[in-house]
Amino acid sequence: MGRAFVYVILGGGVAAGYAALEFTRRGVSHGELCIISEESVVPYERPALSKGFLLPEDPARLPSFHTCVGANEEKLTPKWYKEHGIEVVLGTRVKSADVKRKTLLTATGETISYKFLIIATGARALKLEEFGLTGSDAGNVCYLRDLVDATRLVDVMRSCIGGKAVVIGGGYIGMECAASLVINKLTVTMVFPEPHCMARLFTPKIAGYYEDYYMAKGVKFIKGTVLSSFEINSDGKVSAVNLKDGNRLPADMVVVGIGIRPNTALFEGQLTMEKGGIKVNGRMQTSDSSVYAVGDVAAFPVKLFGETRRLEHVDSARKSARHTVAAIMDPEKTNEFDYLPFFYSRVFTLSWQFYGDNAGEVVHFGDFSGNTFGAYWVNKGHLVGSFLEGGSKEQYEAISKVSRLRPAIEDLGELEKLGLGYALAE
Ligand code: FDA
Ligand code: NAD
Repeated sequence: MGRAFVYVILGGGVAAGYAALEFTRRGVSHGELCIISEESVVPYERPALSKGFLLPEDPARLPSFHTCVGANEEKLTPKWYKEHGIEVVLGTRVKSADVKRKTLLTATGETISYKFLIIATGARALKLEEFGLTGSDAGNVCYLRDLVDATRLVDVMRSCIGGKAVVIGGGYIGMECAASLVINKLTVTMVFPEPHCMARLFTPKIAGYYEDYYMAKGVKFIKGTVLSSFEINSDGKVSAVNLKDGNRLPADMVVVGIGIRPNTALFEGQLTMEKGGIKVNGRMQTSDSSVYAVGDVAAFPVKLFGETRRLEHVDSARKSARHTVAAIMDPEKTNEFDYLPFFYSRVFTLSWQFYGDNAGEVVHFGDFSGNTFGAYWVNKGHLVGSFLEGGSKEQYEAISKVSRLRPAIEDLGELEKLGLGYALAE
């Protein structure tokens, strides 16, 4: 059995939702577009899963966070897809792809063919087993990538209120989940191999601020070491976590956030890969001209940096998806994607934004014992990136603008003295 569509989006996450909205705005006809997703719900704003979804009171639940509410756009409910004649095939994994024949084969045995394919398969959470450890299947070990994981995490967390949680990993998932666990009245210990949290982005000074804040909330940090084994009780649950440094941490639950791998497997050997993702050009087109890739899975040229990057953030998923649809439906009027990387997080009452690139020398500014502080990165004589905690809308816009302008910086001391005022004056 088989069906044919003009446009097929493989994956039903953030990028798929924003692509669907753009397709309808550009006048896709009923029956032309199909989305195939392994998940059982239509696209939603994945960032909600580690924030509002985990709150003890009045938590965010679908349908409240379907795309595209995260960008203050229309909320695309199942009804919306139906009304727009978009075929959404849910709960269905694509198990193979034939780029030459322009077909996808689903796990249910259906062949779906396309004229244009958008790969939006995102990424999967890395498992402890991939680091030679065991225990991911224990009843109280949680990962967090999709709605199923988040629902399970909430169930486990609610069964452990007042208990002890160990968080493995000091990245985004670790930091955001640790905050949610504290808010849910669990005692949290974070374990990670680096000397400080959020090592991919934060400087030691920035990390120090957040670590102090978390410690004041009762979080304990064990750095520079990793998990060596779990102790599992007769219920099949972890009762303690053993670390390489000899520490033993009694645990009622464990959250693991040790990074991701882009879902590229269907296309290995068929499309060119780079930086762990599917390589695309400035039109988000892969090495096959009928196939495009967006979001976490795409390695695209960041014009501003003059190099290819793969970004794992929601803003890039949203914007790359929209750009792709424009490039497909209106190729003449669509230029190369010109993207300024933007990352953010919100934990407790804190909130930060980062724009650009965290390369080169760092100049910190502001009051690190107060609520508003930040940093600029200066590389080869130019300001290339900016971080700000506790900013206003106007201040965030200013650091975004200055990071795109990449002004020449002659005197780092002067930049430090001007601090946020530098971005505001630009
Ligand atoms: P995404 O992962 O959203 O979607 C991929 C889809 O493809 C899924 O529906 C998946 O099931 C489907 N799929 C994969 N393989 C398939 C197959 N073979 N067949 C069928 N379907 C398949 N970023 C940020 O900037 N700020 C933030 O605060 C957060 N917060 C955050 C919290 C949590 C818990 C997570 C997990 C992630 C974030 N992120 C984030 C990152 C952000 O969510 C991420 O960058 C985007 O979701 C990427 O969008 P994509 O559409 O590329 O993948
Ligand atoms: P990450 O890359 O942010 O952090 C991974 C962390 O895992 C590292 O910081 C390190 O501390 C730790 N680690 C690596 N190997 C380890 C090991 N063997 N043992 C113990 N710890 C180890 O990845 P993540 O936190 O898992 O997040 C997953 C994805 O979700 C990322 O793509 C991230 O961008 C995305 N996300 C983003 C946000 C946001 O932008 N606010 C929020 C949540 C999730």
